[in-house]
Amino acid sequence: MSTTSPAHTADLVVFGGTGDLSMRKLLPALYHSDRDGRLSPETRVIAMSRGGLTDADFRGKVDAEVRDQVPIDDPATWQRFLGRLHHVSVDVGGADKSGWGALSRLLAGHEQRDRVFYLASPPRTFGPFCRELEEAGLVTPRSRVVLEKPLGHDLPSAQRINDEVGAIFDERQIFRIDHYLGKETVQNLLVLRFANAFLEPIWNSLWIDHVQITAAETVGTPGRRGYYDHAGALRDMVQNHLLQLLTLTAMEPPARNDREAIRDEKVKVLQALRPITGTEVGRFTVRGQYTEAGGMPGYLDEPASTPPTEASRRVETFTAIRAEIKNWRWAGVPFYLRTGKRMPYRRSEIVVQFKDVPHSIFPGGTPNRLVLRLQPEEGIELHIMAKEPGAGEVTLKPVPMSLSFGKTFTARVPEAYERLLTDVLAGNPTLFMRRDEVEAAWRWIDPILSTWESSGDLPEPYPAGTTGPAGAHELLGRSGREWHEEDV
Ligand code: BG6
Repeated sequence: MSTTSPAHTADLVVFGGTGDLSMRKLLPALYHSDRDGRLSPETRVIAMSRGGLTDADFRGKVDAEVRDQVPIDDPATWQRFLGRLHHVSVDVGGADKSGWGALSRLLAGHEQRDRVFYLASPPRTFGPFCRELEEAGLVTPRSRVVLEKPLGHDLPSAQRINDEVGAIFDERQIFRIDHYLGKETVQNLLVLRFANAFLEPIWNSLWIDHVQITAAETVGTPGRRGYYDHAGALRDMVQNHLLQLLTLTAMEPPARNDREAIRDEKVKVLQALRPITGTEVGRFTVRGQYTEAGGMPGYLDEPASTPPTEASRRVETFTAIRAEIKNWRWAGVPFYLRTGKRMPYRRSEIVVQFKDVPHSIFPGGTPNRLVLRLQPEEGIELHIMAKEPGAGEVTLKPVPMSLSFGKTFTARVPEAYERLLTDVLAGNPTLFMRRDEVEAAWRWIDPILSTWESSGDLPEPYPAGTTGPAGAHELLGRSGREWHEEDV
């Protein structure tokens, strides 16, 4: 699990530092850390971009664009935060090396600080960026590099990036980010499973019928076509976020709460995933693309700087998969994964559906269900059967026993990026993906992708604002199951 001890003094260099991720997630998270006293007074944030900004320009931009996203209860703290910010213009891979000289001058004399290079830029830039850092003599023994997803677009490209970055940084210095791992409920899942005795005896195929992992979003992809046409829901959400949730749900209890013990167990789950290949791809996976409905545009009509292409027509904005884990604990228990854009609700959750009672003496019972909700409201619910009050016939009703983190704990629940940045600055990699994890995930994803790509079939259409194409419901319906759609 992550640490919350104060970080050392660090120079945090964010490549892509004026981009969307930086302005919406990283800078607000860093401000919260500063406000809560988790940044040492000398820690600096150095944004790098091609933008040609001065420090003052960059501070002005952050003041204009980030200020409204964070609570400023003390203007002095905000000014202190702005004072930490710097900007260096750089042209990665270009002939003009002056940006590297400017960065060297800024970092000179601070070799003893932790140096964190955060690559919030497209993955093709990771290798060149690391090489240029090395050539400029900026990689110190106390340096770390943070890689944003997507890490490649298939196994060979991920391996290439890992090799290129690994040629400059040791594995222990590489932090591959998956922001889902920073979500409070995800960490609570480990606590729920491994700090409570009652779940472990029933956490297996004897008691559990199936597991559903859903990440549903109401947003579409306006302005993201350039990225999304070549990503799609499988690469964008399943290869990383959903498979990470699956590993934490399915992993064996680690012997210790430490970085390698936890990641060792997670990778074993990925390696035990039954490959989905050939004709099974058609049976166990579903792809969809949203179409215009309810005043919302279809994927192909979303605002974009370029018109839709063949890649746009073929890309999936929704996918559902029936996965299986081939090991003693989970044999025969389907893990259904589902994610989509323009669904009717925003919800990320893990639903553990228990089996029915072996012999029912009351009519109308439904099996127990444990729901771990990551968003919109982080919490845990156990649905148990209870008797409705009243005389006469016994009538059963499922009643949720709920733990809402927001209501139970008064402390502010930190954003995922805040937690993860704190851990990077403290040098704790537990909540980051190791090379073998990322590659094991691609190894499972690749045959699905290549079968989709060679099939020539288009994704099934689903109207914007609905729960996905008919195929997604058939995927569960075939075995008499259905998706958890409570409260919709
Ligand atoms: C990102 C994906 O990794 O996760 C986005 O690239 C997606 O497409 C986002 O919208 C979802 O994150 P969250 O935390 O809002 O569920």
